[in-house]
Amino acid sequence: MTDKTTSAHGAAPKDTPPERDRPLVELRGAGKAYGNIRALHGVDLTVRPSRVTCVLGDNGAGKSTLIKIISGLHQHTEGEFLVDGTPVRFSTPRDALAKGIATVYQDLAVVPLMPVWRNFFLGSEMTKGPWPLRRLDIARMKKTADEELRNIGIVLDDLEQPIGTLSGGQRQCVAIARAVYFGARVLILDEPTAALGVKQSGVVLKYIAMARDRGLGVIFITHNPHHAYMVGDHFSVLRLGTMELSADRSEVSLEELTNHMAGGAELATLKHELSQVRGVDTEELPEEDALQAPAATPEGKS
Ligand SMILES: Nc1ncnc2c1ncn2[C@@H]1O[C@H](COP(=O)(O)OP(=O)(O)OP(=O)(O)O)[C@@H](O)[C@H]1O
Ligand SMILES: [Mg+2]
Repeated sequence: MTDKTTSAHGAAPKDTPPERDRPLVELRGAGKAYGNIRALHGVDLTVRPSRVTCVLGDNGAGKSTLIKIISGLHQHTEGEFLVDGTPVRFSTPRDALAKGIATVYQDLAVVPLMPVWRNFFLGSEMTKGPWPLRRLDIARMKKTADEELRNIGIVLDDLEQPIGTLSGGQRQCVAIARAVYFGARVLILDEPTAALGVKQSGVVLKYIAMARDRGLGVIFITHNPHHAYMVGDHFSVLRLGTMELSADRSEVSLEELTNHMAGGAELATLKHELSQVRGVDTEELPEEDALQAPAATPEGKS
């Protein structure tokens, strides 16, 4: 692993970082085995307030396994997992939520035919009146959902419209607004832009930045180094279950990140193999040397 992590604010004494900089979530040498399949091994990750930590990696690299540990779906089988500096072991996602860790999954847990406002409060409905006459406080839920969505810049004509009629990007944004409203301190987004076009991805990236500006620690899982680089403060690249690169923004350029993601050495091999096949024109591909991931240097950033 290439570790280039430095303190975000170099002047702060090492043992007592200021409150706002204290890690919310930390993995230290964490790993997970499913039976005898080792999906994740020796992973270090630090999530701080007001920072976007990007986790990149190819299919099967272990990204989902990593967030399942943090979101309480699975338990780590090696290393340490700390929240606010205290070692934890969650049994269910409810334990993670209780600590302010909210996860927005790619296949959003929404009910497509229910109105936007109902989905916003799904599972945490507002009620009014004393028991046993308690009933849903529909007016207050609509008003609050409207305000919260407006706060992050989503203006819908009609909150009664089924959430299924919103675009994929808008639905991701509603899910982000919901997590912020219910007091998340850590927001985990599993490939929120994977199924979206350029424009909608841009909108989602904007809300990721907005959540960060509100002080949340964001974990942004993605395949796409360009999306990661637009909002990321820190980049962790997973490969076959181990952390291949961990670098702050100032220490890695977009090209270097792309090369790490693409697996420069593998691409070079692939080009070599393709060039042996008749009828495949590899002339237009970059030189094999250029495909090797360069040793990242701090000056590498343009
Ligand atoms: N429940 C499970 N039981 C056994 N093996 C699993 C399980 N979940 C994941 N794995 C294995 O662990 C490895 C990492 O998988 P994981 O889903 O974390 O990767 P990923 O980076 O999220 O991939 P993708 O980009 O395809 O979503 C893979 O080899 C996968 O087959
Ligand atoms: Mg996955």
